[in-house]
Amino acid sequence: MESFINSVNFFEGNNPEDLVDKYGTPLYVYNESILRDRMTNVTKIITKYPYTANFSVKANTNLSILKIANELGLNADAMSENEIRMLLKAGFDPKRIFFVTNNLSKEELSFAIENGVMVSLDSLDQVRLFGEINKGGRCAVRINPGVGAGHHEKVVTAGKKTKFAVCEDDIDKLLELANKYELKIVGINQHVGSLYMQPDPFLEASKNFLKIARKFEGLEFIDFGGGFGIPYHKLADEAPFDMADLASKFEPILDDFVKDYGYAPLFKTEPGRYCVAESSVILGRVHATKQNSGKKYAGTDIGMNVLVRPSMYDSWHDIEVIRDNKVVTASEGTDVVSVVGNICESGDILAKERELPIIKTGDLVAVLDAGAYGWCMSSTYNSRGRACEIMINDKGEVKVIRRRETFEDIISLYVD
Ligand code: LLP
Repeated sequence: MESFINSVNFFEGNNPEDLVDKYGTPLYVYNESILRDRMTNVTKIITKYPYTANFSVKANTNLSILKIANELGLNADAMSENEIRMLLKAGFDPKRIFFVTNNLSKEELSFAIENGVMVSLDSLDQVRLFGEINKGGRCAVRINPGVGAGHHEKVVTAGKKTKFAVCEDDIDKLLELANKYELKIVGINQHVGSLYMQPDPFLEASKNFLKIARKFEGLEFIDFGGGFGIPYHKLADEAPFDMADLASKFEPILDDFVKDYGYAPLFKTEPGRYCVAESSVILGRVHATKQNSGKKYAGTDIGMNVLVRPSMYDSWHDIEVIRDNKVVTASEGTDVVSVVGNICESGDILAKERELPIIKTGDLVAVLDAGAYGWCMSSTYNSRGRACEIMINDKGEVKVIRRRETFEDIISLYVD
């Protein structure tokens, strides 16, 4: 594909130069139709049994996006007290929030309990803590299914090398503890890791997970986690994640379980990236181009403070070049260039030695697939305020969904 932006009319008729004139750069731009489309897809992963999709809000916690998830009937999973607070602000009923936790303080745990939010505990120690503060309570437990997956070792969350979840070997101890504190384990959950493009590891993990599930009596829900990938190499025509394929291979695994278990608990998934990643591009300005020791650089204002994924995981994000409101295509000539930011680190690289349409000072660059783990992982490093986020609906109407952070915002937190 020559241009994703053109192929989906990403700006819905708006000129990118008008957008950045009005809202500045770097600018997170969301396309509401794409967002709604992906969020709707995940509600159809399981159709034969009772099912809900929990939007994993750690991927994007913008209030307007949470409101859309709520409106579309998704439930949500949260990772912190403040994510729960954001969801409550967005109108989620506490019963539709699942708190998938890791190493919680007593205070955070108590907050969830007091607000009627179901908690998933991920170690024996945390089950003990929960039991001490909420004897006789209802909870869920995160289980390690023994198989992990993900685009980088840093985001594989099951298998032998992870801090997460309770391993199969500890299930007897877990049940003893639950008994001691009269806890009712009403749900179990897994999460294999983030970003796989083939369903196999997820399906294999799910089979193991359901084998372990049979050791729990009276489960009300079973949550299979998220991790479904998106095509970050879409300009090279990478195929999208085949949700229908996953769904068709998943169903017989569920059938087997339901037959043995005697009934179907509520099944859940927890997709984050799949829901939001493709709905956003970041627009940034090229402020300088140069050649250092024979290597070309395009210097933009999209630093690692704006999008950390390339520096943190060597993640790939496709880049389009925009000049005079038009996407510049490879047919007009290409160059091998590193697209970099304006931060004081040599690792501040968005795209390393990549063949791209020739970039000139003054151009705009658009970084694709920035909607997941983009803005929410951005920082104020080098004391730059975090970027503005806008959303464009299918009529082309633009709404600011988070204003740009100013110096006043930053300075206001210091106590002199
Ligand atoms: N459930 C749990 C328990 C999780 O830990 C995660 C993600 C998800 C669901 C959603 O996974 P998703 O569907 O978004 O893959 N910052 C990294 C990804 C970290 C994922 C953390 N956990 C990145 O930018 O690639």
